[in-house]
Amino acid sequence: MTLPNSIPAYSEKQEGIRFDLHHLEEKLMISPLKKLMFKYFEFKIFKRLLHSLNIDLYGKKILEGGCGAGYGIEAISNHFKPSEYVAFDLNMGMVRRSQTKIKHKGLSVNVFQGDVTAINLPSEKFDAVFIFTVLHHEKNWRKALKEINRVLKPNGLLLINEINNRSLNWFERYLKVYHPKSARFTWEMFRNELNQAEFTILREYLFLQDFGFFVGRKNSLEKKFK
Ligand SMILES: C[S@@+](CC[C@H](N)C(=O)[O-])C[C@H]1O[C@@H](n2cnc3c(N)ncnc32)[C@H](O)[C@@H]1O
Repeated sequence: MTLPNSIPAYSEKQEGIRFDLHHLEEKLMISPLKKLMFKYFEFKIFKRLLHSLNIDLYGKKILEGGCGAGYGIEAISNHFKPSEYVAFDLNMGMVRRSQTKIKHKGLSVNVFQGDVTAINLPSEKFDAVFIFTVLHHEKNWRKALKEINRVLKPNGLLLINEINNRSLNWFERYLKVYHPKSARFTWEMFRNELNQAEFTILREYLFLQDFGFFVGRKNSLEKKFK
């Protein structure tokens, strides 16, 4: 599908929030290469992790934070057929791309401009939250994990993948692609923050040590007060 050139890859001033991606990262995010990577690598790994846990998200209420150009929307809609699917991104250009995709593919998804550190949705609403490589953009990534926990039902699932400090330092040094220094973590730090945000890690998979996939379960109250 080709999108009209008039869709900017950043939000316009009148829309309030403005968040720009580095131009190289933006090109990758909207490219067919990313679509293939998403389908045959990222999403496949999450499906495998869920299968190994004997968890089926079919027909569940799903939220996706930082949906980008909407590759997650397409894959999750087709695979899990959610009873409700809500997605958001801070970058208005990405929101528009996702909205156009939904329209073209006839999918039933509510997409809006939103911030993962202050999710404008009620608490305990979703069975699962997907976050595909978003937190390395966000200085307040610890707060984001707490917000994700808030919108999940008790025992709800977080499916999140990220890149660690080693690759982000490499991108900065050799490609001049910058991300906030405070959003660079080792896997030890990341696991620790997941636990601090009241998640129990059920499964984890590290690809080449730099690309991490985690399935976490929101701690239930019973467990907290045991
Ligand atoms: C590396 S891209 C990944 C996009 C998409 N998840 C994917 O895998 O194709 C990171 C995305 O996170 C979005 N983003 C960054 N900070 C965000 C925030 N605080 N809240 C919501 N989205 C954010 C960016 O606009 C961008 O679309």
